[in-house]
Amino acid sequence: MNNVGRMTTILKQILNSYKLLGECLSVTRVENMLQIHRFSSDIRNSSQTYNELYKYWYNRFISDDILEPEESAGYIFAHLFNKKTISLVPQSCMNNLIPHEKISYVNDLCVKRLKRMPIQYILGEWDFFGVNLKMKPPVFIPRPETEELVKHVLQCIKCRLNNHGSKNSPLKILEIGCGSGAITLSLLHNLKHENVKFVAIDATSHAVQLSKENSKLLNLDMLTKLQILHIECGVAKSILLEKFAPFDIIVSNPPYIPTSDMKNLPDEISMYEDNIALHGGNKGLDVIDGILELAKHMLTKNGSIWLEVDSSHSSIFRTSYADWMVESYKDLFDNFRFCHFRKSI
Ligand SMILES: C[S@@+](CC[C@H](N)C(=O)[O-])C[C@H]1O[C@@H](n2cnc3c(N)ncnc32)[C@H](O)[C@@H]1O
Repeated sequence: MNNVGRMTTILKQILNSYKLLGECLSVTRVENMLQIHRFSSDIRNSSQTYNELYKYWYNRFISDDILEPEESAGYIFAHLFNKKTISLVPQSCMNNLIPHEKISYVNDLCVKRLKRMPIQYILGEWDFFGVNLKMKPPVFIPRPETEELVKHVLQCIKCRLNNHGSKNSPLKILEIGCGSGAITLSLLHNLKHENVKFVAIDATSHAVQLSKENSKLLNLDMLTKLQILHIECGVAKSILLEKFAPFDIIVSNPPYIPTSDMKNLPDEISMYEDNIALHGGNKGLDVIDGILELAKHMLTKNGSIWLEVDSSHSSIFRTSYADWMVESYKDLFDNFRFCHFRKSI
């Protein structure tokens, strides 16, 4: 019996005798993982083309119920050729033999996907609204809907800048919950030559650090137009923001998932992304209420707030938030996802 066979037998014995533990880990899962390692060592000793290995992993993702199996295999193999998508890799390259050292590299990436790690964390980067961002767990991965929020905010800022005219003071924008920096950095990338100033805050130090790293990678840290700060909105430390206030625009994609929906999240999200980036409390409104409270004294008279919200929220805002005039906008999936708040007169 070889080493892998011996390990399988020992693990089965442990799992079978500790039934409770067996239920948590599942014998099949362990066998699956061992099969992958057996596959890796088999393939190390044989010649394989990129295409053959791609097909193996694509089928493996299907049989293991991995979400978006084709995209998952596609992104990983495209990454081997420094391409963004598999359609950009010439078929002739896929028919080449894979060098041995690359086989274990690609297998390691695919095993991460089998463990439900999102593709953005596996690749360590992702494109968002024209900028390439470094991705690191557990910092929230920017979603395609949020690119639509950025479009709305960009339009709003450009409109304000036109009305702002020749004023010397910059238009000031605050982002609450910057995560990887997706919203602020993509906006600033598009507004490099405009008279704007951004302050981006986050409650977690790893998000602040990643936003700062991304600002450096995009050469946006050199501008005197950006501050990234470790501040939690809704607690006493928000006072630290007062020296930057008042703001003309506040933007946020806050944690907004109501408690009852948290249990429905796929493993990809619940196992890897920060809970503080997702869970918005009982109705998903905890951080949103904190933002609106802060905005009461940190927003200019004609200032406004752009928020990404849960689809259940826009009707609540219209009926129970009398201090604000609220307009709602749909996302590409036809859900009311974005709200624009202005102070009621
Ligand atoms: C849904 S993520 C959005 C991240 C990023 N803006 C994006 O769209 O990709 C929410 C972010 O808000 C941060 N956060 C949660 N509660 C916060 C609070 N009270 N004050 C500041 N940031 C907060 C989380 O750490 C997380 O990075």
